[in-house]
Amino acid sequence: MGQFDMVKDFFLGMSRSRVALLGAMVVTVVTPLLVGYMLVDTLWHVQNPYFGAAVYLVLGPVFLGGLALIFIGSFFFRGEREVHLFTLEYLRKYFTEPEMFGRLRRNVFLIVLLTSINITVFSLFLYRAYHYMESTSFCGQFCHTVMNPEFTAYQNGPHSRVTCVECHIGAGADWFVKSKISGARQLVAVVADTYPRPIATPVHGLRPARDTCEKCHRPELFHGDKLKVTNRFLDDEQNSEVHDVLLMKVGSAGDRAQSSHGIHWHIAPENRITYRATDHSRMVIPEVRLTGKDGREIVFRTPDADKLLAEAAAKAEEREMDCIDCHNRPSHVYLEVEDALDRQIMEGAIPRELPFIKRQALAAVTVKYPSSEAARTGISENLTRWYQQNQADVIKARPELLARAIAGTQTAYAQNVFPEMNIGWGTYVKQIGHGPDFNIGCFRCHDDRHKSADGRTISADCNTCHTMLAMEEPNPPILKTLRGE
Ligand code: HEC
Ligand code: HEC
Ligand code: HEC
Ligand code: HEC
Ligand code: HEC
Repeated sequence: MGQFDMVKDFFLGMSRSRVALLGAMVVTVVTPLLVGYMLVDTLWHVQNPYFGAAVYLVLGPVFLGGLALIFIGSFFFRGEREVHLFTLEYLRKYFTEPEMFGRLRRNVFLIVLLTSINITVFSLFLYRAYHYMESTSFCGQFCHTVMNPEFTAYQNGPHSRVTCVECHIGAGADWFVKSKISGARQLVAVVADTYPRPIATPVHGLRPARDTCEKCHRPELFHGDKLKVTNRFLDDEQNSEVHDVLLMKVGSAGDRAQSSHGIHWHIAPENRITYRATDHSRMVIPEVRLTGKDGREIVFRTPDADKLLAEAAAKAEEREMDCIDCHNRPSHVYLEVEDALDRQIMEGAIPRELPFIKRQALAAVTVKYPSSEAARTGISENLTRWYQQNQADVIKARPELLARAIAGTQTAYAQNVFPEMNIGWGTYVKQIGHGPDFNIGCFRCHDDRHKSADGRTISADCNTCHTMLAMEEPNPPILKTLRGE
């Protein structure tokens, strides 16, 4: 055995084991593919999530499996001339017998070279695979049908340049590991087709907003109020434009000014608000607890709090209020039906010149369609039929108006409704505000029904959160003043 050197022994050992040979073949085939793709991806950032999955989730593990086979094969080889590679005895010989040590030295260069190639490929692989799994295209597009709604709503939101992981995982190894464990569970649910449609919200394992949102936003440094001007269109023949003008008392979470006030008062360090909801959706909140700077507690409860909380029992969770209790749709912005159409009209995608288009588009998008495809054709047929029957002259003179209106209406629908995932208008409720019925969002607490022991209530006064400067006015004087007209 002594006349062979280590490298030769290695190849000899390998050639005598079928397992190791198989491993060698796998590695030989996979390595160029893997290295080639990783170079291309490093240089040009491949966007296609399926190429990435094929390489990082399939080829990568196959490559590692091939390497493992080589070592297992060589290690367990028991042929007529056993090589005993990697045993202590074998290695000891190399280091104790001078002649063999000399051979080892001559081969050191080769061994170091091979090992460093392996380590380089391996680290490049880990690095690229990590980036791939953190990429927006992997999170948003890999499980296409499942994530399509979230991904679409994300692209139309203000955070479309913020990656999914910046909000959903954030920095640090512990959350990275947690996310991969829950990711694996989700992958199983997708493969087994057991995932909920729509995906449940709120997200219960979500990282506390203080660790994620506050990496970029600092409400303690906000101050002053914010003007909110809304353009809306009515359902009359002219699709008349009206405006709401609100002065939002955004306020501050009080940092240097030391005085928190207004809407962001809730998240100031000196105030701690916890609440108990009757179920996981957090829609009904019978009890709110406010702990001030001096540690004094005020509990606000609705008249039926005892009954509701007893019925809810185990499902009633205690939660500390943070950004997400108001900003639950910072990124996945599903518009309400009127807002979605108003936006298309405002952007000119749906032409305002077309008589009654607001009313008719509303009628066309609120039909329940079985699939996105059916919705596309349904909206087109619905509008075409109505305009042919009722506004034939208009669309004959300017057929392009109807074509644009159809396209804009289809967009409004496609960006917000996803029949494949059972997501209709208003499935995902926005908690910032209160909706037209004053029963969601802020009004889960601010309904004047939550009373403390000394009779204080959480205010529903219309001027607590905003001052209303104009409501549905075509030409509000306040806007003229603001614009200096
Ligand atoms: C600006 C921060 C932010 C970004 C960026 C972001 N999300 Fe979210 N995501 C949230 C918040 C907040 C929620 C809802 C939390 C709640 O109500 O509990 C959420 C909820 C979800 C949900 C649950 C369903 C729902 O709509 O409530 C899924 C799935 C999801 N996000 C996937 C993604 C994917 C995929 C991306 C990237 C394409 C992404 N998110 C990017 C903040 C973000
Ligand atoms: C990586 C940085 C980053 C993170 C993390 C982040 N945001 Fe933002 N956010 C931004 C930027 C940049 C904008 C401005 C976008 C623009 O003006 O188009 C923005 C805008 C906003 C706005 C104003 C939206 C509007 O319509 O004007 C709100 C509200 C907001 N973010 C809340 C949140 C919340 C809540 C979270 C945590 C769930 C969060 N952000 C996480 C960077 C971030
Ligand atoms: C009590 C509900 C509530 C909480 C809690 C809350 N916000 Fe807000 N935030 C609002 C409202 C309401 C607005 C004004 C929205 C509008 O323009 O209609 C706002 C506005 C903002 C804006 C835009 C400010 C601007 O001037 O355009 C950002 C950014 C923001 N919030 C971030 C945060 C972050 C980060 C947190 C958590 C640390 C947080 N908010 C907690 C209700 C809340
Ligand atoms: C979980 C319950 C809860 C929710 C949800 C909630 N609030 Fe509050 N809010 C409170 C409590 C409690 C107070 C303090 C009442 C008191 O001290 O009299 C308060 C006080 C306020 C104040 C007065 C702050 C000051 O300057 O003293 C404003 C403004 C306000 N909330 C706005 C909002 C807005 C806007 C929303 C929705 C986007 C909202 N709140 C949602 C619990 C809530
Ligand atoms: C606890 C805080 C709070 C109280 C109390 C409150 N609102 Fe609001 N309201 C909001 C917030 C926050 C929004 C903005 C929602 C958004 O950004 O989409 C809003 C939006 C509105 C809008 C819609 C404006 C638009 O075009 O988007 C109207 C109308 C309105 N409020 C009327 C009222 C009236 C009337 C009352 C009194 C019965 C009232 N609000 C009480 C917080 C409040």
